[in-house]
Amino acid sequence: MTVVPAINPRQAAVDIDPAFTDRWSPRAFDDAPLDDAQVAALFEAARWAPSSSNEQPWVFLFARSAEDRARFADLLSGGNRNWAPKAPLLLFLATRRTIARNGRVNRHAGFDAGAAWMSLALQARRLGLHAHAMGGFDQERAYVELGLDPATHELMAAIAVGRRADPVDVLPEDLVERERPNGRVETASFVFEGRMPADPEPVAG
Ligand SMILES: Cc1cc2nc3c(=O)[nH]c(=O)nc-3n(C[C@H](O)[C@H](O)[C@H](O)COP(=O)(O)O)c2cc1C
Repeated sequence: MTVVPAINPRQAAVDIDPAFTDRWSPRAFDDAPLDDAQVAALFEAARWAPSSSNEQPWVFLFARSAEDRARFADLLSGGNRNWAPKAPLLLFLATRRTIARNGRVNRHAGFDAGAAWMSLALQARRLGLHAHAMGGFDQERAYVELGLDPATHELMAAIAVGRRADPVDVLPEDLVERERPNGRVETASFVFEGRMPADPEPVAG
């Protein structure tokens, strides 16, 4: 019998902190509630993210009670509705559009919110949890339901957080098959010295 070696798509090409490859986005969540200390640690990690002028333009709205989770889950769209409602903590991440000190548009807000999300996701792993971001939600209804004025805030993503469950117990069959960490394109396809080459290699996903 030929033994095919298992390919680990999460193998880093050079030695890095395993925290980066250990973070991934599962869909099989256990609905056991998170405790207050865990939830506080997630937001504390996000709090220490860097931001332009230390503006900290992120806003996290969270749902832990069954009632709030159902309300948040109802804003999700497509396939996200088949797995995310199980997660014991659902979040929406938005940015404040303007700079507090001068009222100008903060063009770095999305960049900064991305850093805050990543901090939260890495902290989740430190707590034995996983965080899974989602862009698939009903934008229009979300602003209304979450009490956010689109003139002042921009919704970035929904996020599900929790402990992993056995995929077979909680996911529909098609998602069970997809429940594994994925890989990445090579750094050479997105890192260039000096300037962008005129004819970069096509990025193969
Ligand atoms: C902004 C954003 C939006 C995403 N939207 C969805 C989504 O709607 N549904 C979903 O299942 N995953 C979603 N993902 C998860 C990505 O598919 C996932 O992060 C990507 O495939 C890399 O996999 P990894 O997080 O497991 O490393 C989203 C991730 C980000 C950062």
